[in-house]
Amino acid sequence: MNKDIEKVLISEEEISSRCRLLASELEMNYKDLEEPLLIVGLLKGSVPFMAELMKRFTIPCEIDFMKVSSYVGTKSVGDVKINKDLDHTCDGKCVLIVEDIIDTGKTIKAVKQMFYNKGAKDVKIVALLDKPEGRQVDIEADYVGFTIPNEFVVGYGLDYDQKYRNLPYVGVLSPSVYTK
Ligand code: IMP
Ligand code: MG
Repeated sequence: MNKDIEKVLISEEEISSRCRLLASELEMNYKDLEEPLLIVGLLKGSVPFMAELMKRFTIPCEIDFMKVSSYVGTKSVGDVKINKDLDHTCDGKCVLIVEDIIDTGKTIKAVKQMFYNKGAKDVKIVALLDKPEGRQVDIEADYVGFTIPNEFVVGYGLDYDQKYRNLPYVGVLSPSVYTK
């Protein structure tokens, strides 16, 4: 285990089996879609989760990415800025936003509204992790991998100052790392 990790919260095996279940649930719900589903990953944290999910899909889909920022260090600063927009239009499409974690909910709430403003027909959210205790605005994901306590976690895409995204599990970062 990485020396900066206090404990493993969710193992690689748990993530993989949960993703299989989530993918089949999503497939069931989208099976009657007439046009391809547009899966949009929020960079960079969603990358491993999106890869794990989409390889299980058999329904027609397209992928795109968006990069928004709202976080500096370990505290949300509220304002959401688009750093990279979609490559293609989402007008009239059914969109599935893939997010790593929902904490205050400010990011995903703003992004969801942005998609409707761009003309998306339907917008759903799938998040690997949910920290409901952190919520400051009224928003819920439609699909959640794991509900976790209000602790700062890293790994499986999640970072602390851009590090630890490569860990194959989700772990709690030792407070000594960010109080240094
Ligand atoms: P929200 O707007 O507070 O819901 O923030 C969501 C974003 O904050 C996520 O996409 C993450 O990038 C980041 N974030 C929230 N909690 C954590 C955490 O525990 N570890 C790493 N990043 C986090
Ligand atoms: Mg993020």
